[in-house]
Amino acid sequence: MEKSKVLIVGGTGYLGRRLVVACLGQGHETYVLHRPEIGADVDKAQMLLSYKERGAHLIPGSFGDHRSLVDAMKLVDVVICAISGVHPYSEPHHILLQLKLVDAIKEAGNVKRFFPSEFGTDPARMEGAMEPGRVTFDDKMMVRRAIQDAKIPHTYVSANCFAGYIVGGLCQPGKIFPSRDHVVLLGDGNQKGQNYAEQVGMTHYYHVFYEGCLTNFEIGAEGEEASKLYPEINYTTVDQFLKRYL
Ligand SMILES: NC(=O)c1ccc[n+]([C@@H]2O[C@H](COP(=O)([O-])OP(=O)(O)OC[C@H]3O[C@@H](n4cnc5c(N)ncnc54)[C@H](OP(=O)(O)O)[C@@H]3O)[C@@H](O)[C@H]2O)c1
Repeated sequence: MEKSKVLIVGGTGYLGRRLVVACLGQGHETYVLHRPEIGADVDKAQMLLSYKERGAHLIPGSFGDHRSLVDAMKLVDVVICAISGVHPYSEPHHILLQLKLVDAIKEAGNVKRFFPSEFGTDPARMEGAMEPGRVTFDDKMMVRRAIQDAKIPHTYVSANCFAGYIVGGLCQPGKIFPSRDHVVLLGDGNQKGQNYAEQVGMTHYYHVFYEGCLTNFEIGAEGEEASKLYPEINYTTVDQFLKRYL
């Protein structure tokens, strides 16, 4: 396999830490953005150091410092961003911070491929999504438009729902382990989200489980299905996955 120099942004997050480990595991020269804003977050600091011990380069860089982002981009061929989605108290939403990465990639001029933080429902199919959850799709589409306007080569990964969040808890919001007693069947309109983040989650559940937005479509010419791209991977069935909880 051809090896690349890969920068991972958001490398201590839920998805980001898996991307860093996979990237190192596949022998790519791996760079991880080290934001000064993590301050004294010991867990993040230790995670970054563990990447360094495994051969990753920690690159200082802040979304508040354009020059530091340009310098980071100049080191690599590929940029993968796994910045978080909706946070109830942040303005602008984190996804839109990627507009700063787009500017930096454009200025650096050497990046051959950018993977923005997508990894969920394909936002291009969610034009009719409900408020407040549609913010996720609107923000991701705004980033897509900026990438395309800047003519940056890109790949959008639509991961639909991560099994780790959804399957183990039998699709129950906020549950990771399967209930042995009962499950709530959503759809009667009575489930209330207590705060903004929960309301965002609930509207996503509506589109996924009630409308079936992840299943009621064919992948067109614009995309490829992952198991066709990577047939060598031994995929886990839902049955096999759930047996881990027995
Ligand atoms: N398909 C699914 O089921 C599913 C589920 C969850 C998420 N997703 C998608 O996957 C992507 C990553 O989500 P995640 O759950 O992995 O995110 P996460 O763990 O909540 O956060 C990822 C990273 O975002 C960065 N970040 C957070 N606040 C920031 C700020 N103010 N400024 C700069 N960076 C900040 C941090 O990077 P540092 O490491 O630099 O601190 C953090 O580690 C999102 O696009 C999300 O929508 C999909």
